[in-house]
Amino acid sequence: MQSLAASVRSGIMENAVFHHVPLKPFKGQEPFLSMIRPNRLPLKFLSSLQPNRLCVADAFDILPLCKDESCDLVICDGPYGVTTNDWDQVGDIQEFNLNLIRIFSQKLKPGGALYLFGKPNCIDFIDYRPYLNLRSKIIWYQPSRLAQGRLNYTNNYDIICYFIKGNKPKTYNLNDIRVAQLVELEHRLRCERVPSVKKGRFGKTKFDDRGKNPGDVWGDIKQLTYKSKELVSREALNTIQKPERLMERLIKASSNEGDLVLDPFAGVGTALAVCKRLGRRFIGIERNPVYAEIAEKRIKLAEKEVKQDLFQYAE
Ligand SMILES: C[S@@+](CC[C@H](N)C(=O)[O-])C[C@H]1O[C@@H](n2cnc3c(N)ncnc32)[C@H](O)[C@@H]1O
Repeated sequence: MQSLAASVRSGIMENAVFHHVPLKPFKGQEPFLSMIRPNRLPLKFLSSLQPNRLCVADAFDILPLCKDESCDLVICDGPYGVTTNDWDQVGDIQEFNLNLIRIFSQKLKPGGALYLFGKPNCIDFIDYRPYLNLRSKIIWYQPSRLAQGRLNYTNNYDIICYFIKGNKPKTYNLNDIRVAQLVELEHRLRCERVPSVKKGRFGKTKFDDRGKNPGDVWGDIKQLTYKSKELVSREALNTIQKPERLMERLIKASSNEGDLVLDPFAGVGTALAVCKRLGRRFIGIERNPVYAEIAEKRIKLAEKEVKQDLFQYAE
């Protein structure tokens, strides 16, 4: 018989009764208080998934427990289906992503956003339109990647598919994610003297001192290197840990303080730590207990930083 996780993963299970699949033993590590370990807790407890918790479990076991239409934002940086890592073995990545898109469409509030990370082909040839609207395919440009053979062009970008539920985003905080204008002053002034910009329909393209829209090609946020201060371990380099600035842009753009962010493949907790710092609530899920433990430490550290900041202004 197929396990519950396998059924949900393959998309054949809907509204089924949850039965519990125990996790592999947790090697010699003490549990952290705020982590939920499904193999140690009664189902009743799990069914009231608490915000600001990290579940050490298979995402496909936990997602059915997450309330429908409860999430403002989903950050999905899960398997890419390209490496030899165990967690990256998903068979057909497009079908895998389509199933996730279907699940997230149920969990998102109307107007809520999903950012789905992947390789350039990660949503090719699948029809996601019955579930969510694709607004942008953000190119996360990495010019310094090593050459990948001599019979093709080196892949220098990942994509982050930006979907929303319905036709209008409930949140898009452009002013919180503006980036520096790099246009020369002369050119800028010339453009602004054009009547359609001065008064007409291109008025919104006017120079803004606060910076410009980051657009859909992001070359300003570099992948972590082994020298990056925020890197938690060499093992997390490349395939696991994302830069905090990247997660920060997504979270600031598509959520507000107090909103609920779901991160079902939390890794070492980059998005969760950023949520903590930015005053967002979160539900995090990560199957690997070693990564989960690191994530938990980062969340605690972020919490401490927030408290220190508050204290600083308390006078
Ligand atoms: C690309 S990493 C996420 C990295 C994360 N964004 C960060 O910055 O730390 C993907 C993670 O998904 C986890 N994962 C893969 N399949 C999973 C599943 N079915 N349930 C829970 N976690 C899973 C892997 O263990 C891995 O840590």
